[in-house]
Amino acid sequence: MHQTDLGDHSDPADVNDLRTLCTDLAVSAASRAADGRAQPVRLEAETKSSVTDLVTEFDRAAENYIRERLLSERPRDGVVGEEGVDVPNTSGLTWIVDPIDGTTNFVFGLPAWGCSIAVTRGDTILAGAVHLPALRETYSAALGKGASLNGNNLTSSQSTSLHTALVATGFAYDSQRRSQQGALVANLLPQIRDIRRSGSAAYDLCCVAAGTVDAYYEHGLSIWDIAAGVLIAREAGAKVEFTPDSATTNITVVASASPIFESLRSAISAG
Ligand code: IPD
Ligand code: CA
Repeated sequence: MHQTDLGDHSDPADVNDLRTLCTDLAVSAASRAADGRAQPVRLEAETKSSVTDLVTEFDRAAENYIRERLLSERPRDGVVGEEGVDVPNTSGLTWIVDPIDGTTNFVFGLPAWGCSIAVTRGDTILAGAVHLPALRETYSAALGKGASLNGNNLTSSQSTSLHTALVATGFAYDSQRRSQQGALVANLLPQIRDIRRSGSAAYDLCCVAAGTVDAYYEHGLSIWDIAAGVLIAREAGAKVEFTPDSATTNITVVASASPIFESLRSAISAG
């Protein structure tokens, strides 16, 4: 049965429509979390994989809201979310949802947090959006159609030298992994301009797209952290690789201006 047989008159692969829906869902879900948070005080939070890995009622509510919207508007599509939603598809399309990326920032009252949503067919990311309410920034992209911030087209950094590159990274919640990541960043720091750690992988990739950093790398990510940001950075002209392909967790991402990509990749594999 084709998508049209269900009375859904949109082409399931119309990437512009998918981008519009990604954006609408990300803006609506993140705005609800921002409104619900209301007071600028530190929130109560539960822990997940470790004492530093936080989750709030707002993460779960945002993911449920997105799942319900997709169930009603795209009933044949699958949905995979950080907080446990896992709906198989019968259309070939799957939505990848991080309801709040940057939950630690959200809990502590720092602004770099947002909702990240992408839609994929197999390993191909068709469209994605990241909305950061506290920064009033909405990034989006569609495959082959470019990337934008608040409606303005984005072009990534043209940096040609790793030595002068501003490089973003992040750290996993597992303490053993963190000690390896600390050693790696200590090795890299003397070779670059400086390091930035925003606390949101989705935002870091959007910063690569916007050219507000030259590069970003991180080990130990999950697909919902990065799916939208990978497409946004690629569509803005950055070179982006994530490995292994098709994995849901334990992903390594390297994203940068093309001319410095190989030097960055070898610098972080030598760490
Ligand atoms: C985390 C953020 C952070 C990255 C972590 C992620 P969460 O996601 O993206 O920047 O360093 O690896 O797990 O927990 O805030 O959704
Ligand atoms: Ca995340």
